[in-house]
Amino acid sequence: MKVVCLLGSPRPEGNSATIARRVMKTAEGLGAETCVFELNKLTFRGCQACYACKTTLDHCILNDGLTKVLQAVKDADIIVYASPVYYGEITAQLKGFMDRTFSYLVPDYAINPQPSRLAPGKKLLFILTQGHPDTGKFANIFPRYDYFFKWNGFAETRLIRACGVGAQGVVNVPEDVLQEAEKAIRDYLALEG
Ligand SMILES: Cc1cc2nc3c(=O)[nH]c(=O)nc-3n(C[C@H](O)[C@H](O)[C@H](O)COP(=O)(O)O)c2cc1C
Repeated sequence: MKVVCLLGSPRPEGNSATIARRVMKTAEGLGAETCVFELNKLTFRGCQACYACKTTLDHCILNDGLTKVLQAVKDADIIVYASPVYYGEITAQLKGFMDRTFSYLVPDYAINPQPSRLAPGKKLLFILTQGHPDTGKFANIFPRYDYFFKWNGFAETRLIRACGVGAQGVVNVPEDVLQEAEKAIRDYLALEG
């Protein structure tokens, strides 16, 4: 099993990364092949809307820091996206990647019952951390992205959230959230048989 993790925070040992690293350590312990990308360390551009991936190519035309990340997600069985909430959104680092996943969609994605170039059946864990303790705040982020994950044929998507963490840069993820994240990856890997 291949598990790929994208860290969207500029803080490689921050709250979202702490949850993601627990997931990846658990996956490794269960024998999975793991790979972590710290997006903040990569140099890349957002989608250029050139539509090369819809006309002449079956992949993104850009050749930059995201090229190998896009390929790794394509090759993965389980994908872990982790990000803090910045201004009610995922970070620019992860959003930049998300826009580039437009290259996963086939030219007639809007009407095609199989809109994605990705193999179906991948599973996804979406990790979000936020300073605001109210779980009702920014609860719309995951459903918005999940709508697009479905286009890529993901078989299962799950959200792990830590709210009220990271004030003044403190790393204070509650143990129950870490255990929830650990259980989620255990479930995913068990389901793979
Ligand atoms: C630029 C910036 C914007 C932020 N915007 C929000 C926000 O809109 N809502 C919120 O609850 N927390 C916000 N926060 C707090 C972070 O989401 C929170 O500290 C998070 O746990 C940090 O995760 P990390 O340790 O993985 O980087 C913001 C922090 C920064 C630096």
